[in-house]
Amino acid sequence: MRMLLYITMLFLSFSCSETEAKKKEVQTEKVKPVMYQISEMAGMMEGVYVFNKVLRDSIQKGAALPEFLDGLEYLHKAQATSPKEIDSNFHDLLDQYLSEIEKIKTSDRQKKIEAFNASIKICVDCHQTRCQGPIPKIKRLRIPSE
Ligand code: HEC
Repeated sequence: MRMLLYITMLFLSFSCSETEAKKKEVQTEKVKPVMYQISEMAGMMEGVYVFNKVLRDSIQKGAALPEFLDGLEYLHKAQATSPKEIDSNFHDLLDQYLSEIEKIKTSDRQKKIEAFNASIKICVDCHQTRCQGPIPKIKRLRIPSE
């Protein structure tokens, strides 16, 4: 049983309600050892997170940028765990995010850093009201000013 609980926690480690989920598992032994079902949107977000780590490292090193993820506009339509969170504010913030990342594709390193940090701020803005669990991780993506 204990083993299964750890496995469940592993699957939840990235999810929106990270801390609540962990608390619940400590409190109850009755938690069902079912596999965490990840939504289409959550799956894409994980890809976005990993891509941003690679992107941040390349910007910091002044190396060539990785190829940008294709089809991010699909996030407008992707099925989410809580469809009620996908309101007009979500779509506005997503549009802002998509236009901000275009600005990263400049040759000026300082402007790249500014655009990258501005894009991460939009991730956080959107997460303030939906899916707060990953906020600390997202904030750690920011490039500190030199
Ligand atoms: C326009 C709003 C919006 C923006 C912008 C946004 N997110 Fe999300 N993110 C969400 C929503 C909503 C979910 C919950 C998806 C679900 O559970 O179906 C989510 C989920 C996540 C998750 C958790 C996935 C999981 O396994 O449950 C991570 C990690 C994440 N986002 C990272 C990021 C990063 C990094 C950025 C910016 C580079 C970003 N997000 C930008 C709305 C946004």
